[in-house]
Amino acid sequence: MTKNSNKNLVRKNILGLQPYISFRDNNEFNSPVLLDANESPFGKFNRYPDSTQKKLKEKLSQFKNIPPNQIAVGNGSDELIDLIIKVFCEPKVDSILMMNPSFAMYGFYASINENNVIKLDLDNNFEINKKDFLKVTKDFKLKVFFLCSPNNPTGNSIEEIEFYIQNFNGIIVVDEAYIEFSQQNSCLDLIDKYPNLIVLQTFSKAWGKAGARVGIAYASEEIIQLINLVKAPYNVNSLSQELIIDCLENADECNENIKNILAEREWLEKELKTISCIQKIFPTDANFFLIEFNDVEKVYTELLKNEILTSKRTPSISNCIRLNVGSRKENEQLLNILQNI
Ligand SMILES: Cc1ncc(COP(=O)(O)O)c(C=O)c1O
Repeated sequence: MTKNSNKNLVRKNILGLQPYISFRDNNEFNSPVLLDANESPFGKFNRYPDSTQKKLKEKLSQFKNIPPNQIAVGNGSDELIDLIIKVFCEPKVDSILMMNPSFAMYGFYASINENNVIKLDLDNNFEINKKDFLKVTKDFKLKVFFLCSPNNPTGNSIEEIEFYIQNFNGIIVVDEAYIEFSQQNSCLDLIDKYPNLIVLQTFSKAWGKAGARVGIAYASEEIIQLINLVKAPYNVNSLSQELIIDCLENADECNENIKNILAEREWLEKELKTISCIQKIFPTDANFFLIEFNDVEKVYTELLKNEILTSKRTPSISNCIRLNVGSRKENEQLLNILQNI
C-alpha cells in the first residue's frame, strides 16, 4: 500500500472482489467473428456496448487533459454517487456527510446501503461553517463527504473548497454538476494533489443531455479502478457513448447554449425582481434560482394549475421554490402567472 493509498477506507469485500472482465473489450482484434456474447448477428445496435468506454474516455481525456485511467463513466452521476458509497461504506457501520440543504440523492443512496447520513447545516448564506465542519468530523467517523458546488438547491458556489479537502479524513466528493454555469474554478486540477478527492461532473445540465444519462468521475487511478470494479459491466449504453463523443467533438454548440442560458438567467432575474409576490431571489451560480415567496403554497399551486412545474423546497427551506431557467417562451409563461398573483 503506497503512502497515498485509500485502501484502508475501502470495504474489505470490495478489495477481495473478482473483477468482471469482458475479454472482447480488453484485447485488440482486427476483424473478429463475435460468437462470445449470445448477441444477434442482425441490426445496428446488436452488440453490447464497450464496457471500458475506451473511445469516450479518450475523447474526455483530450478535452479535460486528464489521463483515461483517471476517468470513470456512469449512468448519470447518480450511478457514480451510488458506486462511491458501495466502494467505501460498510452497510450498518459507516456514515456519510452531506451539506443541508443539498442534493438529496447522496442521502438516498446511503440509506439504501444502510449507511448513516450526517447532515451539516449551512449558514444563512448557504455556506459551510468551518467550525461546525471541524466539529462534525471529530464527533463522527465519516467515510465520504459529498460537497456540492454550485450547490443544489441553493445555487451558490461553496467558498474555499480546498480547506474541506485538506481537513477531511476520508473520501471527499466534489459534485460539480453545475460548474459550467459558474465563475468558480473546478477542482479537477486538484485530483493529483489529493488522492482522496473525487470530482463529479455530468452531461445532464450544461451539455443538455439529461436523457443520455452520462456522468463522469475524475480521481486517482486507484479510486477509478475501484469504481470500475463495482459498476455493472455495460452501465453506459452504446447510443449514449456515441452521442457524448459527438457532443465533445461539437463543444462549440454547448458553449453557445451556456452563453444563452447565462444571458437568459440575467434577463429572468431582472424580470423576477419586479414581481411583488417574491420576497427574495438568492444569488445563483447555476442554471436555476432559489426564490422565497410571501405565500409559497399559493404560488406553487397557481403555477401547477397552469402546468408550470417547479420544485417546492418548503418546509426544508422555508417559503422557497427552486426553478430553472427555461427558454424565453417558457420564462415568459412563468412571469405571466407570477405577475398575476
Ligand atoms: C448536484 C447534482 N448532482 C448530480 C445530479 C445527477 O445528475 P445526473 O443526471 O448526471 O445523474 C444532479 C441532478 O439534478 C444534481 O443536481
